[in-house]
Amino acid sequence: MNTSMAAMRLGLAAACLASAICAADEASLRGNALMDGSGPTPHKATLAVPGGFGRGWEKQPPMIPHPIDKYSIDLRQNGCLKCHSPATFEVAKAPKVGDSHFFDRDGVKLDHLAPRRYFCTQCHAPQTGAIPLVDNVFDGD
Ligand code: HEC
Ligand code: HEC
Repeated sequence: MNTSMAAMRLGLAAACLASAICAADEASLRGNALMDGSGPTPHKATLAVPGGFGRGWEKQPPMIPHPIDKYSIDLRQNGCLKCHSPATFEVAKAPKVGDSHFFDRDGVKLDHLAPRRYFCTQCHAPQTGAIPLVDNVFDGD
């Protein structure tokens, strides 16, 4: 091993040591669990809220008030549309997808769901009853 390589290795070791000390000093929201270690199991129970969640602001995509783990969305089928499409919502007694979901990006009205609204969970998300890690002070009014 030549001198410059030895010096480089020493430098690397010193950097690792320093970062290990820094990591121990920092308190993260997930505790001291390493990224590849197993932390506490995340809270999984989805909230079912009759009547839906209130909206934080006018154009907010409403939160999903029911579990969605049984509905998949892929190239061939969209489980959400079994209840929320114009053809199915009455029978399913579910709210119809928003009117805005039928306009393309240029504001042209389409006779079918706009492709940019196909992946529902891009904008709509369910909620769990997990205790928030940080307080939310957002005020939508
Ligand atoms: C089996 C029927 C069914 C399926 C499938 C379904 N939903 Fe629903 N959804 C409902 C019903 C019924 C409600 C109304 C619940 C209520 O208000 O109590 C609802 C409410 C919602 C709302 C709230 C609307 C509002 O104005 O507050 C959103 C958003 C929603 N669903 C999105 C989805 C998404 C996204 C999927 C697919 C991942 C999906 N739903 C699949 C029946 C369904
Ligand atoms: C790009 C974001 C986006 C995507 C993707 C999207 N939505 Fe929405 N959705 C919204 C927004 C924003 C609103 C509220 C404004 C409105 O009604 O258009 C909304 C409203 C709704 C509502 C309530 C309508 C009402 O009249 O109160 C339902 C139900 C809904 N979406 C279902 C769906 C379903 C099902 C899909 C997938 C097929 C979907 N959305 C895809 C953004 C989105």
